[in-house]
Amino acid sequence: MTTVTSPLIGREHAIETLHAELSRAIDGHGGLVLVTGEAGIGKTALVTEAAVAARRRGALVLSGSCWQSGGAPGYWPWVQVVRGLRRSCTAGEWAEVEDAAGGVPAALLGERPEEPGEIGDFVLYDGVTTALVTAAQRRPLMIVLDDLHWADPASVRLLEFAARHTWFERLLLVGTYRDVEVELPGHPLRPLMSSLAIRATTVTLTGLGRAEVGALMARTVGRRPDDALVAEVHRRTGGNPFFVEQAARLWQSGGPVEAIAPGVRDAVQQRLSLLPEAAVPGRRFHRRLPAAVTAEPASGVDRPAGEVTVLAAARPGTNATPCPASSR
Ligand SMILES: Nc1ncnc2c1ncn2[C@@H]1O[C@H](COP(=O)(O)OP(=O)(O)OP(=O)(O)O)[C@@H](O)[C@H]1O
Ligand SMILES: [Mg+2]
Repeated sequence: MTTVTSPLIGREHAIETLHAELSRAIDGHGGLVLVTGEAGIGKTALVTEAAVAARRRGALVLSGSCWQSGGAPGYWPWVQVVRGLRRSCTAGEWAEVEDAAGGVPAALLGERPEEPGEIGDFVLYDGVTTALVTAAQRRPLMIVLDDLHWADPASVRLLEFAARHTWFERLLLVGTYRDVEVELPGHPLRPLMSSLAIRATTVTLTGLGRAEVGALMARTVGRRPDDALVAEVHRRTGGNPFFVEQAARLWQSGGPVEAIAPGVRDAVQQRLSLLPEAAVPGRRFHRRLPAAVTAEPASGVDRPAGEVTVLAAARPGTNATPCPASSR
């Protein structure tokens, strides 16, 4: 087992899982890891740490992030990966990749007359996968696709194709996504993610424990909070690291711990805006609402009505005080 030294607080098990998958990939057993959890829980921080470890062990790391606001071309995360691959290659190496992949990488980068949409799904998936496999024969490869909850469906299908066809390659595929958003009814990626998860090692991040919240607060502001304050911040944030950092900064600036930092308010409102209107009718609520604004899975939610009403009241346009929900 690897000894883990990491700037992350309280993620030893998750880091060990990623390091083990990385070791397997370096030894020629490729794999797919999905890192899930709510906004701000530390998915990107975790895969960034894994990417640093992968580079240290001689792997080439290529990444792509999905884009929320529309306007991104199809296969946007993969376009970024292929761009990164080309940047990492000499001209001769790139020619070899292009040749093996039937020119698909160049088409994906818009350097051939046909658009990616004209190529046909199978040829495109096969071409990109072949390009990665060709590169992985020179050195181990780690591909990180961040924020898959915003991906176009074709990008997720390509990820599944690549995962199926690279079990015996030195290639580790890592995807992150907000499971609580993808699992909302009607989300276009819901069925695709379920099918992807079947062939993945999934690392689900949940809130930090109380001692870890204290450590993160101390690190964020450079002084130790007392136990009562840590307990209160832990209760209010659910241990979500982003919220803990925000709460610690408020505390440092002299704000009351009950206050809601603007970043937290935005995050809660963004999450609530994704829920169907019918989810927040006062004391009756959609069963996924608490799951969407706390760290708990929907099946485990069994809160007293009063507490749930406070959660519901965080929705814009309602008249109670916004609550300490753990979402961003
Ligand atoms: N275990 C941890 N220890 C210390 N800081 C952490 C930890 N996890 C996350 N953070 C910090 O919390 C903040 C939010 O983390 P991050 O951006 O990784 O969340 P995320 O899950 O990727 O969110 P999103 O879904 O919005 O992309 C960052 O500032 C990050 O550095
Ligand atoms: Mg992130």
